[in-house]
Amino acid sequence: MDRLIITGGKRLSGEVQISGAKNAALPLMASTILCKGETVLSNIPGLKDIMTMSEVLANMGAGISVEGGCLRINTDTLMNKEAPYELVKTMRASVLTLGPMVARFGCAKVSLPGGCAIGARPINLHLMGLEKMGAKITLSQGYVVAKAKRLKGATIYCDISTVTGTENLMMAAALAKGRTIIENAAREPEVEDLANALVKMGAKISGAGSTVIEIEGVDELRPIDYTIIPDRIETGTFITIAGITGSNILIKNSRYDHIAAIAEKLRETGIIITEEGDALRVIGPPIGTLQPADVRTMPFPGFPTDMQAQFIALTSMAAGTSIVRETIFENRYMHVAELKRMGAHIEIEDNIATVRGVQRLLGAPVMATDLRASASLVVAALAAEGETIIDRIYHLDRGYEKIEDKISNLGGDIRRVKGGRT
Ligand code: EPZ
Repeated sequence: MDRLIITGGKRLSGEVQISGAKNAALPLMASTILCKGETVLSNIPGLKDIMTMSEVLANMGAGISVEGGCLRINTDTLMNKEAPYELVKTMRASVLTLGPMVARFGCAKVSLPGGCAIGARPINLHLMGLEKMGAKITLSQGYVVAKAKRLKGATIYCDISTVTGTENLMMAAALAKGRTIIENAAREPEVEDLANALVKMGAKISGAGSTVIEIEGVDELRPIDYTIIPDRIETGTFITIAGITGSNILIKNSRYDHIAAIAEKLRETGIIITEEGDALRVIGPPIGTLQPADVRTMPFPGFPTDMQAQFIALTSMAAGTSIVRETIFENRYMHVAELKRMGAHIEIEDNIATVRGVQRLLGAPVMATDLRASASLVVAALAAEGETIIDRIYHLDRGYEKIEDKISNLGGDIRRVKGGRT
């Protein structure tokens, strides 16, 4: 397995270009199932999860080609309505093919994603919504089998706001007969990006970005060319990197309206963040003067759970104590044990982390456990004294495009070692 070797303590400078958003690309790729023809998606990041979703679609019979950051998906030859366990177990977002397949073909067989490192992550709300739209849902041998002659519009109340649940149901409703209202819908920018693309395909959707989304089903959708939004979590991650290393960097291709809560919270720690067109000028406070801050993860527009691990890494070197409450997932503190190996003082009780800042972190061999946990280890390693070896960085490759190149270009001392001990 590949490893990253980082020697911390360097001040960074220069510019970093943010890639397209992984969590916008994945539902958009699934949405191509809804219509025949060739869809062209631009600003697609080169990530493992994108390759996996491409495999899922190719396994269904789609034609896929990649040119630079452009993905061409042709669904004229779709014939297999199944997302197999071998692929779904590596990427739970494959469940996003369920709604589009039932909507287009009247049937779908998708492996239950199973749990993952950060929590049980059930899909009961996805299934509840499809049932409300008339799908017959059965579970057999670990697969969800959904059937419906034609989905019909329904009012669906999600008692928890679910990002991929909202996306699955919005895609299913786009071709249903009649009107669907999704109440307590997720408001994430990636949901809105999907809705914008669906409208361009001919769907009739209003309210995306709010908690009530209305979809008037249509009979047919058409393929489009579409450019996806930048990755707000990668943006936030680079802000924490500048913050913990006392650096002055320019983060290009970022949408401030997507990271407002992240920026507001990180300013509390003393990081200066100013907009410069579609870029952000980020200046970290001098080493040793980072301030503590308390945070509670919330659905958008609150502080995102996908930034919680990076926030803990940052505040592990603050001059004081920070309180972090993870309210979305039940087991999203696996980075804490690894950060403590680097000298961080963090205690967890229930879903609350108490981070007592230390003056210095020490490089150590550590292990990535999930995508954002691995990002937090990179953040900490860039400020730690000495060398850190991060193992199992396939987790990182799922959501960060060429992160070692981007950090090296900023002057960071980071290199990837291929293969190596298992
Ligand atoms: C999306 O996951 C993101 N993934 C996650 O990003 C992100 O952490 C999460 O939203 C929260 O923002 C993609 O968009 C591909 P949820 P998702 O459904 O949709 C509960 C990353 O790091 N729930 O919004 O799976 C669930 O258990 C990844 O890029 C149900 O109970 O998350 C959780 O507690 C990690 N039943 C809460 O809702 C359901 O049917 C929010 O989950 C669905 C969800």
